[in-house]
Amino acid sequence: MERILGRVLVIVPTYNERENLPVIVGRVRAAVPDAHLLIADDNSPDGTGEVADELAAGDQHVHVLHRPGKQGLGAAYFAGFHWGLAEGYDVLVEMDADGSHQPEELPLLLKALAEGADLVIGSRYVPGGELVNWPASRKALSRGANTYVRIMLGVPVRDATAGFRAYRASALGKIVLDEVQSQGYCFQVDLTLRTVRQGLRVTEVPITFVERTVGASKMSRAVFVEALWRVTLWGITGLPRRLRRAR
Ligand code: GDD
Ligand code: MN
Repeated sequence: MERILGRVLVIVPTYNERENLPVIVGRVRAAVPDAHLLIADDNSPDGTGEVADELAAGDQHVHVLHRPGKQGLGAAYFAGFHWGLAEGYDVLVEMDADGSHQPEELPLLLKALAEGADLVIGSRYVPGGELVNWPASRKALSRGANTYVRIMLGVPVRDATAGFRAYRASALGKIVLDEVQSQGYCFQVDLTLRTVRQGLRVTEVPITFVERTVGASKMSRAVFVEALWRVTLWGITGLPRRLRRAR
């Protein structure tokens, strides 16, 4: 697979994932042995950054990006994308550190990319996709967010907020990342919209999302509020364009 796709970089953002990190790195290394990893740590108070350095010291496939402080998931990924593009990787993957995204499913994402997609989304909401152990409240929030995104933005994607994805570097190169202002989780929606608008090919493959057993989610009211106002704004400013297309 990697022979067709070229060099693959799996970007793993971390904030207080000290216990989870060695486990997920080991699973990625076993599942896709040729791929490289970039851990993007926001100076986690629990010492995740030092754990990342230890992992990198013992494995040439593991790299670390130390960021000065907690600046949001979107900001961490953009720094990771810039690093990966500058280093000449052909495929950039997004994956959580807490085990919710299963590295063993990565070959499925890469296969869909090799078959011609520019962006492959590991989706919880296409047939065959599953959610394990998410509380009903979080499920409702995620479902509601995706419905709102579809209505406001008209993107033909079932799981636009998903965080398990693979991008061709060439596709990311067509999106002006410096223009993106989203800081939190809504950058996932932001990039989905930009990819669709570029006319690039987006494919969803079913995944099983498993709620973490160690540590805590960083989802917060601020993350939610940012997503809500930004999606609303994109919906309103994008309306003339949608109306033109509908004619
Ligand atoms: N560097 C950095 N900075 N990492 C962060 C930050 C941050 O500000 N915030 C979160 N992370 C890391 C976490 O350490 C974890 O590895 C990953 O990002 C996902 O964070 P979680 O807090 O575990 O997210 P979640 O499980 O609540 O949300 C999941 O679902 C969302 C909605 O579908 C994730 O898959 C999100 O990516 C997804 O958007
Ligand atoms: Mn999580």
